[in-house]
Amino acid sequence: MAFSLLSVVSTALALAATVSASPAADSLKLKTCPDGTKVRNAECCRFVKVRDDLINDLFEGECGENAHSTVRIAFHDAIGFSKKGGKGGGADGSILQFDDIELNFTMNAGIDEIADDLKPFADQHGISYGDVIQFGSSVALSLCPGAPVVQTFVGRGNATVPASDFTVPEPFDTVPDILARMADAGFSPAELIALLASHSIAAQDKIEPAIARSPFDSTPDQFDPQVYLDVLLKGTVLPGNLGPGKGEVLSPVDGEFRLQSDAALARDPQTACTWQGFVSDQALMAKEFAKAMAKLAILGQNPAKLTDCTELIPQAKPLKRKTAVIPAGKTRKDIEVSCPYNRFPNLPTAAGPPVTSVPPVPEQ
Ligand code: HEM
Ligand SMILES: *[C@@H]1O[C@H](CO)[C@@H](O)[C@H](O)[C@H]1NC(C)=O
Ligand SMILES: *[C@@H]1O[C@H](CO)[C@@H](O)[C@H](O)[C@H]1NC(C)=O
Repeated sequence: MAFSLLSVVSTALALAATVSASPAADSLKLKTCPDGTKVRNAECCRFVKVRDDLINDLFEGECGENAHSTVRIAFHDAIGFSKKGGKGGGADGSILQFDDIELNFTMNAGIDEIADDLKPFADQHGISYGDVIQFGSSVALSLCPGAPVVQTFVGRGNATVPASDFTVPEPFDTVPDILARMADAGFSPAELIALLASHSIAAQDKIEPAIARSPFDSTPDQFDPQVYLDVLLKGTVLPGNLGPGKGEVLSPVDGEFRLQSDAALARDPQTACTWQGFVSDQALMAKEFAKAMAKLAILGQNPAKLTDCTELIPQAKPLKRKTAVIPAGKTRKDIEVSCPYNRFPNLPTAAGPPVTSVPPVPEQ
């Protein structure tokens, strides 16, 4: 009797184990949103339309200018945070709520365009400014081949104070100043270098308006490691002055823009090895970026009070190539290897004639 009861119990347990591990049982736990989408967390339902409208209306289905700018504003809003307090509330939407103040900061030059799109979008969809920015950034990334799914929370309240000025690093700042600012917000040098994977889907407008929309690598529609290599290529030192930062070095790839901060971080002993480590490892770059970006997205928030809606974020298309490629006409000798500890990886060289002119990122 005892034996048979035990066997019944263990059979039931075994059955329960099988059932709960099966997709059928998983789907039993799913809730159906009014539009038919199945979600694990019903609070995510109202973000289904937010996601779809972002993709179709704002991003136009592309890893283009608006997707790029949304990832940038996610940084500029969130980094308005200090471990010492008193500099605003992190990823709280203050950049939209107090746009009259924050968009006037020099470091936010050019952010007004995407802010002018996201603010009415949030109002129309009845979501907070902090949510439209960080959820929007994750959705934007999903359109960029190679990008990871970033853990994505919603439910941020309204910002109560604007961020202070000078929380966003400037491209003309020194490496120690940039690292100190990031440390004050809770980020290590390695985390900053991982976050700069975002510059693989980026262009500039305001540093050199004469060459507006010039991208930071040759593949601004792909979340690939090319930026980490392109920034390490020997450049052309300008004899005169280019823009507000004297001594800028031009990328040897025509049409490509190199930020002074990226150039310096790629060569600084504190950051050069992390930088080099991503050149040949797209998966590592995406993984480390996802971790740091998820941390950035909840800066100043209590995650216990938020709802995890990562399940709504589509997985971006994978990339075929896992490493950066030496531009046609360049060789290993053109790379300014700056990490003293690890051998520089072997990379493929692009075939074809040595013309490497990169077109600007089209305006949206
Ligand atoms: C040392 C820190 C950083 C500096 C100095 C910096 C500086 C800049 C500058 C000057 C631009 C060009 C803006 C323009 O003229 O239109 C830019 C673009 C961009 N940045 Fe950064 N950035 C930094 C870190 C980050 C981080 C951490 C992220 C995101 C996680 C990010 C994402 C982007 C993106 C996506 C763009 C392209 C925007 C577009 O094409 O519309 N940046 N950055
Ligand atoms: C923004 O900056 C401009 C130019 O520096 C200045 O005229 C304007 O008063 C500023 N606006 C606010 C709201 O601070
Ligand atoms: C945030 O502000 C908006 C607009 O003023 C308001 O409708 C909304 O209820 C506020 N949200 C919270 C959580 O207080």
